Amino acid sequence: MPTRLRRSVLACPGSNPRMMEKAAGAAADEVFLDLEDACAPMEKPGARSKIVEALRTHDWRGKVRVVRINQVGSQFALDDLREVVTGAGDVLDCIMVPKVQNAGDIAFVDRALGSLEQSLGLASGGIGIEAQVEDALGLMNAEEIAFASKRIETITYGPADFSAGMQFPNLTVANSYNYPGDIFHYVLFKLAVAARAAGIQVVDGPYLLIRDIEGFRAAAGRAAALGYDGKWVLHPGQIEPCNEVFTPSQADFDRSVEILDAYRHATEVERRGAVMLGDEMIDEASRKMATQFELRGRAAGLTPSPRQQTVEAGAAG
Ligand code: GLV
Ligand code: MG
Repeated sequence: MPTRLRRSVLACPGSNPRMMEKAAGAAADEVFLDLEDACAPMEKPGARSKIVEALRTHDWRGKVRVVRINQVGSQFALDDLREVVTGAGDVLDCIMVPKVQNAGDIAFVDRALGSLEQSLGLASGGIGIEAQVEDALGLMNAEEIAFASKRIETITYGPADFSAGMQFPNLTVANSYNYPGDIFHYVLFKLAVAARAAGIQVVDGPYLLIRDIEGFRAAAGRAAALGYDGKWVLHPGQIEPCNEVFTPSQADFDRSVEILDAYRHATEVERRGAVMLGDEMIDEASRKMATQFELRGRAAGLTPSPRQQTVEAGAAG
């Protein structure tokens, strides 16, 4: 399964062709065209062909292309899948499934995709699934959901629906009144554990106050601190801060390259498994910690700063 860059995941209503055209030109890593909550119920049937048209017409190169269908079991879900995959299955990376409550919801989508792929002559298993967990039942079953299909590429959080379902006294996605910590900490942590156990990505949901960029940065920073791969963005103004928060800093990236070089030298040349690097003892676990910074940094286009290249060249020689 490809590991895709998903620092910023742009939500776009599937009923609005103009917004979809703009989304194709945005600097987000992923765009999802929405048939669910950003689409008025009366617009949903018509939005399917608008999405197919947008996927076929615009230049989505460099972006993960996703369509969010309606909840499994709703009157819309099956027709959403059929119409979107029939019209655009060859130009689509993933289906996002909202309000997933158990592994059965994913099994339904997995098999429906399998049937459609066969009948349309598409590569088997080529369309991935993003599983959105956004209620108490889904959170309880996060582990089985994460392992429910080989197609699953992400667990994605839905904080607005989750706040509603939990009856948090909130009118937006934010900390509840007088709560001394982060009300989403447990959820974010649990979803991250389920996703990492299954070897898939984990993405935080939306921050609704689109003009509050500092609040957005703080929320994204908390998810990034838990190892999240990215977060939803609802407005172009959130994209750049989001990409920045989920990209390692140049200093951390350089340090990771330095650790990897030093450790390679220690193990391969000196044949030692634990060595000092400056004031720090590094070993195999340090290599693993550094590796994920390095991979994320390179995926985001970072290169070692010049001083680092000299160290790299020196270590290689
Ligand atoms: C997104 O779908 C949310 O409910 O937060
Ligand atoms: Mg939702």
